[in-house]
Amino acid sequence: MERHRVSPVTVSRALGVLAAEGLVVTRPGSGTYVADRRPAVAGRAPDFDWQSVALGDRTVDAGGVRGLLTPPPEGAVALSGGYLHPSLQPLRALATAATRAARRPDAWGRPPLSGVPELRAWFARDLGGDVSPSDVLISGGGQDALTTVLRALLPPGAPLLVESPTYLGALAAARAAGLHPVPVPMDGDGVRPGLLAEAFAMTGSRVFYCQPTFHNPTGAVLPAERREQVLAVVRAAGAFVIEDDYARHLAIDPAPGPLVARDQDGRVVHIASLTKGTAPSMRIAAVVARGPVAERIRATQMVDAFFPARSLQETALELLTSPGWPRHLRLVSAALRRRRDALLAALARDLPETPVTRPTGGAHLWARLPAGVDDVALTEAALRAGVLVSAGRPFYPAEPPGPRLRLTYSAAATEAELSEGVRRLAQVLSKIV
Ligand SMILES: Cc1ncc(COP(=O)(O)O)c(C=O)c1O
Repeated sequence: MERHRVSPVTVSRALGVLAAEGLVVTRPGSGTYVADRRPAVAGRAPDFDWQSVALGDRTVDAGGVRGLLTPPPEGAVALSGGYLHPSLQPLRALATAATRAARRPDAWGRPPLSGVPELRAWFARDLGGDVSPSDVLISGGGQDALTTVLRALLPPGAPLLVESPTYLGALAAARAAGLHPVPVPMDGDGVRPGLLAEAFAMTGSRVFYCQPTFHNPTGAVLPAERREQVLAVVRAAGAFVIEDDYARHLAIDPAPGPLVARDQDGRVVHIASLTKGTAPSMRIAAVVARGPVAERIRATQMVDAFFPARSLQETALELLTSPGWPRHLRLVSAALRRRRDALLAALARDLPETPVTRPTGGAHLWARLPAGVDDVALTEAALRAGVLVSAGRPFYPAEPPGPRLRLTYSAAATEAELSEGVRRLAQVLSKIV
């Protein structure tokens, strides 16, 4: 403590890390000692080269996803990230819900395999239309659900139609499952139905993955008329649509009803995630599917992961049925509106030439950079200048139409921080353009 001028808490945390790494051992009642070094086998360093041969080239590219999940460095402003800033997360309500859930005698037991019935019923009510509790499968978060659904619907090597741009975690999951994402361009109102029909005809694909509501990264919402057109195109192709409804609880203006509520014939496989409106570790989502595909998805989840922890399902149920839940949604909506407006105002002030979207929900704006700017290099330079933003390129399954940036308004601590982040970004951009 004296040598490093740190508190006892810091020292004991450091010792905890060293113990976890096996560098020190603690002997209760005696003290903490430097661990014995593992004896090298016959005095040589380990040789892992054989693994490269055994594993072959089937790598999993987690780079983009890791970037989204890594917290910003100390002092940097987060204009990127997938979750609410902790000040907007319902942490107290979650603590209460978890305590109540953990007290239930069956909290650590096996849940029914499709999920806790009351939680399935809650999701069915939340989605509306004629979604029934028996259509709902509880799953371990949106990403997990997405992987399960993709693997259940398509064999390795199959083409998967996606909006372009799209959520980079969906591209990563599709590629890890051996699928080939095929881009279908969007305009300000979401995917273009004519091009979607062409893409089905050209590829023979059986599945279209999309986010019709508060699309990540652009914030676009598919209007009612286009929803009908997209469903008609999908019907004509004899295909499924995966509706990733990740941001339903991040509405600034009311969100249109989900595609699945208009679907009678089991065309739509819907994924509803809870993390975005709550906290990253509320890893519970619902998959809604009807017909034989529902059985295929259930079987895939069961074989891969059995079921999500009952204690977490019960915690989610406690939270969602508590009187504070509607109030929380209203607070989040009002805070997101203020933050979106603050970010737009800062952009109008410091980067008036940069066209940006004005989303009515979700967490992100999508900005068009001047032609010729390298968005990936800009993102790296911005980080060095203390602001974390997301380059547009990784959100495109193929060549991007030009340089773009995703700017997030949900993850920064305050509106003042959003403004400071844009100031730093504008300075970096002014040196490049
Ligand atoms: C569009 C979209 N879908 C799914 C997810 C996965 O979220 P989670 O696994 O936390 O539910 C994300 C996370 O950023 C997302 O942006």
